[in-house]
Amino acid sequence: MNSDDRICDDRICDQVFGFWEDMSAIPALGQHQMKLDAAQLAAHWRRCSLSSDFWARYTALFVPGIVPPGTLPRDAMEGVLSYLLNELFENCAKFSGGPVGDVVYQSWLLEDRIVFQITNHIIPEGQAPFIDLIVELLENDPDELYFRRLEANAEDELRGSGLGYLTLIKDYDIRFGFQFKPGSPESIAVSVQAHVSREETL
Ligand SMILES: Nc1ncnc2c1ncn2[C@@H]1O[C@H](COP(=O)(O)OP(=O)(O)OP(=O)(O)O)[C@@H](O)[C@H]1O
Ligand SMILES: [Mg+2]
Repeated sequence: MNSDDRICDDRICDQVFGFWEDMSAIPALGQHQMKLDAAQLAAHWRRCSLSSDFWARYTALFVPGIVPPGTLPRDAMEGVLSYLLNELFENCAKFSGGPVGDVVYQSWLLEDRIVFQITNHIIPEGQAPFIDLIVELLENDPDELYFRRLEANAEDELRGSGLGYLTLIKDYDIRFGFQFKPGSPESIAVSVQAHVSREETL
């Protein structure tokens, strides 16, 4: 049953935004996963870039040494993945909260794209503001929103810059999906899906 089909209260049911797919239902050429801890990532910040660089290189080896025209070469793919994964791991380190510290990394290698799904946990009060940001991100023109955020950041230096997902959408053509899954009254699991095309789009 799809979450949209259920009549439910936001606190009980999963909520999904953007380009979200049930990856367990899609046959993949390869699948990988790793479990980390958000507090450990925050305490040892370089683990974010180390994990990103490892999985970027590991995953990019899936791309053959010589690729057909119009397809992203291995080195370029590694660069995109390293940037993307660093952003996603850093977000888990910065924004996780509540009693559950697990961060779960998963990836699926498909013919036409590579899909990543990173799950972390937040307190229930954090869900509505994050959803507002996601809706703004998905419903606006990325270039326009980027400049609006740059201006807002110049006025308010205290918040996160809010340019992470936006830059990945705008400059790297990555498609994002978001899922919120209530775990207990104190915790919501947030999963971010990133779909990276193997086609050269730049
Ligand atoms: N994994 C996450 N868990 C909880 N909240 C998140 C997560 N990722 C993003 N957010 C929320 O969405 C906002 C936008 O994230 P984004 O990565 O675009 O920007 P940022 O991390 O604030 O700044 P930047 O990435 O430019 O340093 C964050 O400020 C945060 O409020
Ligand atoms: Mg960020």
